Amino acid sequence: MRFKRRAFPALGSCIQVGAATSRTRGRNLGGGSDRTERNFSFFGAPVGLVFTIDRRLKPHSWIDLGLFAQNVMIAAKARGIDTCPQVAFAPFHDVIATHLNLPPAEVTAFGMSMGYGDPDAEVNQAGMPRERVHDFARLVGFPESLH
Ligand SMILES: Cc1cc2nc3c(=O)[nH]c(=O)nc-3n(C[C@H](O)[C@H](O)[C@H](O)COP(=O)(O)O)c2cc1C
Repeated sequence: MRFKRRAFPALGSCIQVGAATSRTRGRNLGGGSDRTERNFSFFGAPVGLVFTIDRRLKPHSWIDLGLFAQNVMIAAKARGIDTCPQVAFAPFHDVIATHLNLPPAEVTAFGMSMGYGDPDAEVNQAGMPRERVHDFARLVGFPESLH
């Protein structure tokens, strides 16, 4: 995979913030740290996306939006482009709606940075830890060896 450093110098920071977000969500979203604030400049990415949804739709439609977003991410990756979904935008819907002139029925679900990640960024060296499958899924009817 090829990355262009200058085009997207800070996507790596997104990964570190993501890790902090899952452990200390409240503090991270509200704390005003530099890294948290960089969410709102899309970590320097050349493209920033805002995903909205009709606020009248039910939870299953939010799942559809998540699947749609993941398809965007996979399609981008297939072209060598990196993404970072960012729920950090959600609490700021009113500001976003004003700037983007959103229809009243729409609500901001999340944002997404898109560009070429920097493989040399320190944060990209660490890698995110992955849960084992049986830590988040209960496999029924499969041999023990697959657990
Ligand atoms: C729905 C969703 C929302 C996220 N919101 C943020 C966010 O607001 N800010 C952030 O830095 N990372 C956020 N992350 C984490 C990163 O987008 C990314 O998932 C994380 O850096 C791990 O990336 P990796 O799975 O490719 O290693 C979010 C992830 C998901 C799935």
